[in-house]
Amino acid sequence: MYETIKNVHSILAYAALGLLLLASLNAIFGLRSKKIFKDKDLRLSLFTLIICHIQLLIGLILYFLSPIGAGQLGNMKDAAIRLTSLEHPLINIIALALITIGWSKHKKEESNNGKFKKIAVFYTFGLILILSRLPWTNWFN
Ligand code: HEM
Ligand code: HEM
Repeated sequence: MYETIKNVHSILAYAALGLLLLASLNAIFGLRSKKIFKDKDLRLSLFTLIICHIQLLIGLILYFLSPIGAGQLGNMKDAAIRLTSLEHPLINIIALALITIGWSKHKKEESNNGKFKKIAVFYTFGLILILSRLPWTNWFN
C-alpha cells in the first residue's frame, strides 16, 4: 500500500509540476500579449487544478503511511526528515491553497487580462513554493 501510494505520488509530481509550469507560462504570455481568455486557457488551468488536487489528496494519505512522514514529527534535528515530515507537506498545502484561490479568483474576473493575471500570479507563486521544498534526492534515487 505504502509503496503504491508513494509511486503514484512521485509519478503525479511530474504531471503536476509540468502542468503548473505550462499553465503559468500560458497565463503570463496571455497577459503580456493581451490575448482573449479562451476555452483552451480555461481547460489548461482547470486540468492543472484537478491534477494538483489529486496530488494533494495522495500526498495527505502518503503523509500518514510514510515512515518519513507524520510519525517523525518529533525528529526535527535531521534536515532530510524535517523536509518530508514538516516542510514539504506544510509548504505544499499552502501552495495548493494559493493555486485554488487563484482559480477561484479568476472565475470572478470579468476581463480577459484579469483572468490571465490571477492565474499568472497565483499559479506561478504556488509553483515556486512547491519547488522550494521538494525532496529532490528522494525523488531521483
Ligand atoms: C484534500 C483534498 C481536496 C481539497 C481540500 C480540495 C479543495 C477544493 C476547493 C476549496 C475548491 C474550490 C475552488 C473554487 O472556489 O472554485 C476545489 C475545487 C475543485 N476541486 Fe478540489 N479539493 C480536493 C481534492 C480534489 C480531487 C481529488 C479532485 C479531482 C478528482 C478535485 C477536483 C476539483 C475540481 C474539479 C474543482 C472545481 C473547479 C471548478 O471551479 O469548476 N479536488 N477543491
Ligand atoms: C503539487 C504538490 C506536490 C508535489 C509536486 C510533490 C512531490 C513529491 C515528490 C517528488 C516526492 C518524492 C517522492 C519519492 O521519494 O519518490 C514527495 C514525497 C513526499 N510527499 Fe509530496 N508532493 C506534493 C504535495 C504533497 C502534500 C500536500 C503532502 C502532504 C500533505 C505530501 C507529502 C509527501 C510525503 C510524506 C513524502 C515522503 C514520502 C516517502 O518517501 O515516504 N506531498 N512529494
